Amino acid sequence: MDVTRVRSEFPILQRKIYLNSCSLGPLSLRATSYLDSFQELWHDLGASAWYGPWLETLEVLRIRVAEFLGAAPEQLALLPSTSVALSVIAESIDYSKRNRVVCTELDFPTLAYQWAVKPDVELVILPSHDGVKVDLEQFAAAVDDRTAFLATSHVFYTTGHIQDLDCLGEIARQSGALLFVDGYQGPGQIPVDLGASKADFYTTGPLKWLCGGPGLSYLYVQEKLVKKLQPRIASWFGAEDQFDFDLANFEPHRDARRFELGTPSLPTIHTALGGQEIIDELGIEAIWSRNRILTQHLVEKAEESGFQMTISPEPADRSAIVMIQHENSMEAVSYLAKKGIIVDCRHGHVRVSPHFYNTVSEIDQCIDTLIEFAE
Ligand SMILES: Cc1ncc(COP(=O)(O)O)c(C=O)c1O
Repeated sequence: MDVTRVRSEFPILQRKIYLNSCSLGPLSLRATSYLDSFQELWHDLGASAWYGPWLETLEVLRIRVAEFLGAAPEQLALLPSTSVALSVIAESIDYSKRNRVVCTELDFPTLAYQWAVKPDVELVILPSHDGVKVDLEQFAAAVDDRTAFLATSHVFYTTGHIQDLDCLGEIARQSGALLFVDGYQGPGQIPVDLGASKADFYTTGPLKWLCGGPGLSYLYVQEKLVKKLQPRIASWFGAEDQFDFDLANFEPHRDARRFELGTPSLPTIHTALGGQEIIDELGIEAIWSRNRILTQHLVEKAEESGFQMTISPEPADRSAIVMIQHENSMEAVSYLAKKGIIVDCRHGHVRVSPHFYNTVSEIDQCIDTLIEFAE
């Protein structure tokens, strides 16, 4: 990978040491050029930009993202956020025969909230015994014939631990439960092949590792379920004949667009396309292997410097989210920000998340500045 050339795509890297991709990926020049052309079309064509270039760009993005995820474009719905994607699916299921949903305490709260607000659903939140992962045996014991969903993360935002989707899928299938995966922290940093996976539903989005900005989420739905599930939250974008404006009859799309809700965020469609192109050109395997080297270096440097981390002991289960235990994590993050180093904090940890455009020297500066703060 030509790191110098890659870095020149992201203006923030000339201004800051940016190690917070798991919160928000940086904005690229490619993305801003798409944004510029979006604005130009708006100036030029007004509403008629919709029927030509804008709806076309939406489909270009859908096709590109589907291919990247190992899915068909017909299996992908574009929605405004992970929370919305979750609620669309959580609403489309009948809980009268199976009313249990199993998730874990390491998942992002918005996942559990979808079912916590449904009084007829029994929400089971599995604890983590080591603070890093949840054992497969715990899932196997909790998922049974009362379970509607096994809903959990691909990569835990809390620890960076990568879960085994094959095993989770097997556990769900043995009990006839559906596997819903929150993959916000996966695609863009680790390879994903949804067609070959046992996930029934998978959500992700451009915001973080795909460097595409806020306001958009990708919902993958397994082929059989696309046809079987009737949306119970509906919109004109989900209607097969959207521009018939037939208010008395709602006939949903035959593909995953049936789950879509209202006018999409077009600026994000454009920035997401820019980010996705860069990721595709570099190749996810090359990104993954570079991120592993950067993560390994970060872990070693932090260890040598006397920091404790909440990460998997197995390098193969680690992603580029590194949780450094810290008593004053908020103050440490502010100190680093004053020195031009952007990281984040969660649950008593400084969270450092390098991506392909970072360098070993940036990681060293980050850890050295953390030491300086302690002193
Ligand atoms: C794993 C994970 N899921 C979900 C979310 C929130 O998603 P949204 O704000 O799109 O609903 C985040 C957050 O940033 C996240 O890290």
